[in-house]
Amino acid sequence: MADPKVKLLRNVPLFSGCTDKELAFIATRADEVDLPAGKVLCKRGESGGDFFVIVEGRVDVDAPNRKRELGPGDFFGEIALLDNGPRSATVRALTPLRCLVLGPAQFRDVLHQNGDIALKMLHAVTDRLRAAAPLPTG
Ligand code: CMP
Repeated sequence: MADPKVKLLRNVPLFSGCTDKELAFIATRADEVDLPAGKVLCKRGESGGDFFVIVEGRVDVDAPNRKRELGPGDFFGEIALLDNGPRSATVRALTPLRCLVLGPAQFRDVLHQNGDIALKMLHAVTDRLRAAAPLPTG
């Protein structure tokens, strides 16, 4: 029978370009974790931590100039892991959450494995950068 974690991963847009073999590899790196509503997953200014993909539930992202909600299929926590810098926003669970969680080494393993994932992440980072410092209009 298929690994239930692989089944979960197959439904995440970030991993939609992955082969079965790649998904099986990611499944060995990711932990499935349940977290309570109200839990702070990232605190702005703090360093270190994990990368999260939301399976169920919603979070609130409190970033400078911008408040945002993320839900199933979205991911967060990539910025501090990519540059070893501080968290750029505070992220809090608005509801009970089920997440796939990768620590820093696991996150790097997955990015090295699949360029498509790295590209999708780059798109999200540029989107978030533009949200933080929008170009003047007009
Ligand atoms: P990181 O800086 O590691 O921790 C906070 C996370 O919030 C950040 O990674 C992103 O994943 C997320 N984040 C920051 N800014 C935004 C934004 N404007 N829109 C959505 N998510 C964001």
